[in-house]
Amino acid sequence: MSKVLILGKGGREHAIAYKLKHEGIDVFVYPGNPGILTESRQADIHENSVHAIADFCRKEHIDLVVIGPEQYLADGFADILEDNGIRVFGPGRAAARIETDKSYAKDLMERYNVNTAKAVITESREQFDAETKYRVFPYVIKVSGLAAGKGAFIIKCENDLILVREDLFTLNRFGDAAEKIIIEDFLIGEEISLFIFTDGKNAVPMLPAQDYKCALDNDLGGNTGGMGSFAPYNKLSSKDISNIMNNIVHPVLKGMRDDGNPFRGLLYAGLIKQGDNISVIEFNARFGDPETQSLLFIMESSLYDIMNQVAHHNLTINECRFENKYAVTVVIAASGYPDKYEKGMQINIGYIDDQSYIFHAGSRKAGTIISDGGRILAITSKDKTLDKAINRVYTNIKSIKIDKSFFRKDIAYRGLKK
Ligand code: AMP
Ligand code: GLY
Repeated sequence: MSKVLILGKGGREHAIAYKLKHEGIDVFVYPGNPGILTESRQADIHENSVHAIADFCRKEHIDLVVIGPEQYLADGFADILEDNGIRVFGPGRAAARIETDKSYAKDLMERYNVNTAKAVITESREQFDAETKYRVFPYVIKVSGLAAGKGAFIIKCENDLILVREDLFTLNRFGDAAEKIIIEDFLIGEEISLFIFTDGKNAVPMLPAQDYKCALDNDLGGNTGGMGSFAPYNKLSSKDISNIMNNIVHPVLKGMRDDGNPFRGLLYAGLIKQGDNISVIEFNARFGDPETQSLLFIMESSLYDIMNQVAHHNLTINECRFENKYAVTVVIAASGYPDKYEKGMQINIGYIDDQSYIFHAGSRKAGTIISDGGRILAITSKDKTLDKAINRVYTNIKSIKIDKSFFRKDIAYRGLKK
């Protein structure tokens, strides 16, 4: 029986554990959460250091480590584990720059002619002020480094600019992540997440998904890590997917090989579709949350086999198969998220049908199971049509009771519109 260690503690990692367990894999997790621990065993790792993780992997003869969160990638965990002879699914630090250094991603896209919003990169307050002084609204300001999903701002008026300037330069809220700041055109259209397994050269896409990033219905409220998702996103043709692979994914992979940092792992392309034109909004170097919950709940192919081939730098599987169904995921978050919120609320779960599943995110065990984060858990349902999957998820969600929490009521509805 193959043994996998998953690093992370969110809904994404729960979905990976769920899928691997169904494939008969012996799953360990660190640090984990109570939901993940229903699919896996707690790894006996006593400190959050890559060396403690490597020791555990050697002792337990772990076949594959799957890295969930970007911070581990940015910290070079994949490189160090590989140097210790341990197979890893997740890129090394240099390749993870595609996510951790947006100015690198922009430069790469420019060099390899990949469609993306036109941008300037500023490296000082003077340059920033000069670029924004006469710029026509709306536009987008992004810090180049990691900012836990909070580093992008849509600037619609002078007041937005004043607030962002204060965050960036007076409060210095982003520290080193804001050493470089990107100012780019605002793109209008529907956002799509496409996840691609790659060994640096060969690339296999999953189905496209759509993430709902704003906290409140009708895309109001603050930007979050993601309040819900559905898959497959149903307004891309197979020709669109081929175009994305040929004109976006393969040029970027080639660029990264040419730069001496081939990307091996899961490349997350955040795209925007305007008519027939598809542009890149961002790349991430890991699975997205909550799209992973939707995708893995309907994925038929073996996740272990694909990740293991990538980890061996030899991806030969050329297709990722899915059930002929839609999956819809709705996140339940603590009231106030993504700003101030409480923790410690009781999580009570009643009857959930067998076409639905609960993926824990910010939860922990303290006698009973209580909330321990902004995004508390997600529920995913699948069905033959999108409207049935939506009905199912919103019927089942009534069985979950958590005080001082909320969820969006309009997840996946855009998929029903022509
Ligand atoms: P990012 O941190 O780059 O993923 O940006 C966060 C969110 O801001 C995206 O998911 C979009 O909703 C929005 N966004 C980022 N860049 C743009 C852009 N150039 N045009 C329109 N919306 C954008
Ligand atoms: N769903 C957005 C992300 O994982 O970054």
